[in-house]
Amino acid sequence: MYKDDIMKKLIIEGGRELSGSVRIGGAKNSAVALIPATILTKGKCVIRNVPDISDVKILLEMMHELGSKITYKDEILTVDNKNVENVAISEEYASKIRASYYFMGALLGKFHHAEMSCPGGCVIGSRPIDFHIDAFKRMGAHIVENGGNYKMDAAELQGRDIFFDFPSVGATINVMFAAVLAKGKTRIINAAREPEIANVASFLNSMGARIMGAGSGTIEIDGVKELGNGEVDVIPDRIEAGTYLIIGALLGRDFKITDIVEEHIYSLISKLKDAGCNLKVEGDVITINKTKNLKAVNIKTTVYPGFPTDLGQPMSTFLTQCEGESSFEETIYENRLRHIPHLNNMGADIKAFDKTALIRGRTPLVGRKVKATDLRAGASMLVAGMIADGTTIVYNIEHLLRGYEKIVDKLNNVGANIRLIDE
Ligand code: EPU
Repeated sequence: MYKDDIMKKLIIEGGRELSGSVRIGGAKNSAVALIPATILTKGKCVIRNVPDISDVKILLEMMHELGSKITYKDEILTVDNKNVENVAISEEYASKIRASYYFMGALLGKFHHAEMSCPGGCVIGSRPIDFHIDAFKRMGAHIVENGGNYKMDAAELQGRDIFFDFPSVGATINVMFAAVLAKGKTRIINAAREPEIANVASFLNSMGARIMGAGSGTIEIDGVKELGNGEVDVIPDRIEAGTYLIIGALLGRDFKITDIVEEHIYSLISKLKDAGCNLKVEGDVITINKTKNLKAVNIKTTVYPGFPTDLGQPMSTFLTQCEGESSFEETIYENRLRHIPHLNNMGADIKAFDKTALIRGRTPLVGRKVKATDLRAGASMLVAGMIADGTTIVYNIEHLLRGYEKIVDKLNNVGANIRLIDE
């Protein structure tokens, strides 16, 4: 969270039906990796479908600090890094977003030297970066950590076999960054399989990298001497899409969500169908209607293609509207239930134990003053406010704006009544 934006809040008038269509933007978690990826080449890069979210704005400021020449218009980003210099990433920037860790792999891969402090991001658990650091060391980097500041140097980076105890998204992408210009072959075993990984690999391959198997559990990278021009389309944001599906299941009337990749959110679609939701998939468009008599379902978050941790919190709001007892188990982070007291304050009946919540429904929700404790908690509160009786005020909404493009406009255009107050 950054101080300038601390005072934003949403005022939501609940109970409005939604009809019309919403287009899904580019994926936050791809865009925040694709932008630092450009550091690896002196060539020109074009990245299309870049979402207009605050995490992207911060990354662009960081790139500017490094000397990158960037234009960003109509969701198209052009990047020229001919004059990029390897300056230390200040704590002020690194602490603003989680994705600042990608500067480690990109700077180390390109310049064999990187300096920055610990990455920030949502407070949803301890979120160590030991897999990243251990892999860089294994590839030949010498790393000194001093009070959360990292200094990394490598005479050369050498391709290695890297095995992860857990298929970490950030560590998989960071090792790809360190490996594309390294000497020899790197194999990532137990790599993350999230769709964002293949999106980043296809961007690097368009520059001339040799990455095979991205999207599977084993990725092979043959190091090359240099990279050239690159281009890529950011894939649609599966978490944004899922959030709108959840909203549509509760408030939709012939509500259409466009630019969805069904395969990327099959886990959610399957759970919504189990709950009795009425939805129709036609190509990249899903039409969804409010469903009466929703049934309880159990959710367990896990790695892709399992139910995504980033949809657990908005889904927990949905489960308050299902008849019977649902369980919501979070397995990725220690601390993703901080929104539950706020849902209970609005009338939900949820008992939280460690990383599991038991949700008894159906409970009508009423408008209250609540807080977005992190990005996806913000989405949970937004959904709650939209189905609640009366007015809900969600404080600290700057968290939500980090990851959901033009969310207030997108929802108001289809019938919602939401105001963003910037004090
Ligand atoms: N982990 C370690 N050591 C590491 C790296 C990860 O123990 O070095 C653990 C984490 O503590 C966590 C698990 O592994 O328990 C998964 O972490 P992962 O590295 O996969 O997550 P991440 O790269 O930090 C990205 C997204 C998250 C999303 C996760 C899982 C970005 C910038 N962030 O985080 O997005 O939840 O993958 O899909 O891409 C969000 O958008 O709300 C968000 C939190």
